[in-house]
Amino acid sequence: MAQAQRTPVTATVPNDLEPFWLPFTANRAFKRRPRLIAGAKDMHYITPEGRKLIDGSAGLWCTNAGHNRDPIVAAIQAQAAELDFAPTFQFAHPKAFELAARVASLAPGDLDHVFFCNSGSEAVDTALKIALAFHKVRGEGSRVRLIGRERGYHGVGFGGVAVGGIVSNRKQFGTLLVGVDHLPSTYNREKQAFSIGEPEWGAHLADALDGLVTLHDASTIAAVIVEPMSGSSGVLPPPKGYLERLRAICDKHGILLIFDEVITGYGRLGYAFAAERYGVQPDMITFAKGVTSGSVPMGGVVVRKGVYDAFMQGPEHVIELFHGYTYSAHPLACAAGLATLDLYRAEGLFERARKLEKPWADAAMGLKGLPNVLDIRAVGLTAGIDLASKPDGVGKRGLEALELGFFEHDVMFRAVGDTIALSPPLIVTESQIGELFGKVAKIIKAVA
Ligand SMILES: Cc1ncc(COP(=O)(O)O)c(C=O)c1O
Repeated sequence: MAQAQRTPVTATVPNDLEPFWLPFTANRAFKRRPRLIAGAKDMHYITPEGRKLIDGSAGLWCTNAGHNRDPIVAAIQAQAAELDFAPTFQFAHPKAFELAARVASLAPGDLDHVFFCNSGSEAVDTALKIALAFHKVRGEGSRVRLIGRERGYHGVGFGGVAVGGIVSNRKQFGTLLVGVDHLPSTYNREKQAFSIGEPEWGAHLADALDGLVTLHDASTIAAVIVEPMSGSSGVLPPPKGYLERLRAICDKHGILLIFDEVITGYGRLGYAFAAERYGVQPDMITFAKGVTSGSVPMGGVVVRKGVYDAFMQGPEHVIELFHGYTYSAHPLACAAGLATLDLYRAEGLFERARKLEKPWADAAMGLKGLPNVLDIRAVGLTAGIDLASKPDGVGKRGLEALELGFFEHDVMFRAVGDTIALSPPLIVTESQIGELFGKVAKIIKAVA
C-alpha cells in the first residue's frame, strides 16, 4: 500500500466570508464569529491558528474511522492518479463491483444488491423511487403512498423532506410530495427519560401503521421508512420491540420496510448495520457517511434480492430502472470505501464500539443532575443530552454551548436545537470519553 503524503495545515482565515452560504447554519451569527477548521487527525480537528479540538461528533456523524487515516488517504491519492472518473451509465469500473460486494456482505440476509449515489439524501430518494417502481413492475402500481415518521430525518431531497418529520425542514418548501403520511414519534420524555439504550416503553407505537393501513388501505401504500435510531432529531433509540412490530405489520400488508441507516450504519451502534443489532431485516437499507468514513461523498441503497430480481424482467436491452447520478460509484469514493471497510475490519472498530457502549453510556448518564438537563439518551456510541430552552428562544442555549465548546473548551459537537448530540469517531479511547464528557459538563454548567 502506498504511503499517504501529508502536508502541514497551512490555511489562514479568509478575508471574505460573505460568498459562502453555509448549509443548516445561522449565517450572520457564524460570519460574525466564524468557527473554522483547517486540518484534522484521528480524534482531533485543528483550527487555522493551530488549536486542537477533540471531535465529539465524528464530523457530522461520518468519520467513524477517525480523521485522515493513512490507508484511506493513500487509497484516495492512488485512485486519483489512476482513474479520476468513469461513467457508470452503460460502463463501469472494477472497484464499483468490489465495493458493492463488500457493502452487501455486511448487510443481513438477502440484502445483496447495491445502488450507489453520493449522499444520504440521494440514498433516501433512491430508495423511495425503487419502492414505487418495484410495486409498479409487479403490477401493483396503486401502491403510491410513502410513510415516514414524526421527527424523522431523511435528508433534504423533496422525497426525504416529505417523509421526514422535522417541521422546520418542511415548512419553507411548499407541498412537498403528495400521498405521504407519518407514524407518531417514538419519543416520550415522561415515559422514557434517562433510559440507557432502547427504552422499555413505546413498542405499541408501531401499531399506528395498522391505523394508517385502515385509513388509506394497504393497496395504496408502497413503503415505510424509518431511522432505526433517529440521530439528527437528537438521538432517539427505538423502543424495545418497536422495529420487530413494524416489520410484522409491513409483512402482513405487503408494504416495503426501509431502514435509513445513514447514521446507524458502519459501527455507530456497534454493528455494520442497526438491522443486525435489532435482528430485523428491512427490504432496503440506505447508507452514506461512514461508508467512506466521510472522506469522499458516497451513499447508496442495499436492496433485497427479491426487489432487484423484480426489475430484471422483460427485454434485456431495456434499462430496468431509470435512475442514477453522474457520480454514482465514483472511483475516488469506491477506493475510499474499500480502504475504509478494510480499516473497520482490521481494527475491529464495530466490536470496539460495542465494547465501549457501557462506559460511554455511564459517562453520559453522569451528566444527570446538572443544571437544565431534562433527559439523556445513550445508545451505541451516541448520546443526546436535552437542555431546557432559554426563555428568550429555542436553540439559544444549544448554540451557546456549541460556541463555548469550540472557542473555550476545545471540543466540537452537534447542537440540535437545545440538544447536545455526541457521536465520536469509533477510535475514541476510554480516557477521551472521560475528557469529552468532562468538557461537556463544564459547558452545561457555564450555559446555565
Ligand atoms: C438518517 C439520515 N438520512 C439521510 C441523511 C442525509 O444525508 P446527507 O446529508 O448526506 O444528504 C442524514 C444526514 O444526517 C441522516 O441522518
